Amino acid sequence: MAAVKLAERFGTPIYVYDASVIRERCRELIDSFPVANFYYAVKANSNPELLRIIRGERFRAETVSRGEVELALRSGFKSAEISFTCSNIERGELLFAVKTGVRVHVDSLNQLKQYGAFALRRTVSLRLNQGIGGGHHRHVITGGPESKFGIELKDIPQALRIARRYKLRVNGIMQHIGSNVLDEKIFVKAAAVLLQTAKHFPDLEELDFGGGFGVNYRPGGRRFDLAAVGKEITKLIAGFEARRGRKVRVSFEPGRYPVAEAGTLLVKVTDIKRNSKHTFIGVNSGFNHLLRPAMYGSYHEIINASPGGVRKKVAVAGNICESGDVFAKDRLIALPQEGDVLAILNAGAYGYSMASRYNSRVLPAEGLVENGKARLICRRLEPV
Ligand code: LLP
Repeated sequence: MAAVKLAERFGTPIYVYDASVIRERCRELIDSFPVANFYYAVKANSNPELLRIIRGERFRAETVSRGEVELALRSGFKSAEISFTCSNIERGELLFAVKTGVRVHVDSLNQLKQYGAFALRRTVSLRLNQGIGGGHHRHVITGGPESKFGIELKDIPQALRIARRYKLRVNGIMQHIGSNVLDEKIFVKAAAVLLQTAKHFPDLEELDFGGGFGVNYRPGGRRFDLAAVGKEITKLIAGFEARRGRKVRVSFEPGRYPVAEAGTLLVKVTDIKRNSKHTFIGVNSGFNHLLRPAMYGSYHEIINASPGGVRKKVAVAGNICESGDVFAKDRLIALPQEGDVLAILNAGAYGYSMASRYNSRVLPAEGLVENGKARLICRRLEPV
């Protein structure tokens, strides 16, 4: 559906999602790893309508807070279909997760003791930090000593001692090396190392390789070779099972992959300023709605959805009172005029879910295009 029409009908700023892209990406994942369970990382986009679509593709839910667990339950996921991985939480939040019966991957030795002391479960899964990390920015690399996440390999003997003390069987291990990993080799290597590490866990029933599948944000860029990674990891697991003489459950937790390319942020041009260096195209949005460019320097393709003029290099900036509130600089787009609609692409993951009320501005609306029809799935929320 034409972006300008959607903007006219629902107003801007608005995130618009395409249900068919979400379904396609989910199916691609399942086809690449036929034996795996997929837990959708709810943090990437937690709109209940998107959760409904993803659940419809037989995905489970990966959560990181009490709020996300409750949202997943309300969206129809059963507690047995929900996993919970969280660092630095209060005991009460951990107890909630344990009581709800979701699968907990404990993040630290201390959390393992807390979990054991509740004495409500006999099994537990450990989140490991194997020292292997990847991803698009140092903020999202979760393996290695700079990362706050997981239990290091040197602490495995102690973790097993704690588990014994509380009569817990460690029947699962998980890792997540980082986000937007575009290097297939590091992904496969981390998986191979996890299979090595598995030898320390005689009761192992489940291996969770985390999320992180990369999406290429730049036009013409190479796609992450999901099929090749799927083939490699499936082979590694088959070898592992043959050596062990027992099957394991295999899980992944993709957040970005199913939703990133399905979302577009539509914004309206509100001002144009030529200073001595740049042509600033001002829009009625900002890093309060899409934080990724300001926070990680992330690239998002921007196109003028209105007719526009000749293509020119411009900067696209928001209405937030900070100099860092710039979506892109030196970007070639059809020169806009006031009132034009710009489409910021591949904004379905970590877009709305990271939006804030900074500067007391509205939160954008959200719309869904499904079976050729568009509808509003979240109205614009006023700050006061
Ligand atoms: N599992 C765990 C334990 C995670 O921490 C994450 C993401 C995922 C799964 C899903 O990862 P994905 O498949 O989406 O890469 N705000 C950042 C991304 C932060 C990711 C945090 N953890 C961004 O906009 O790039």
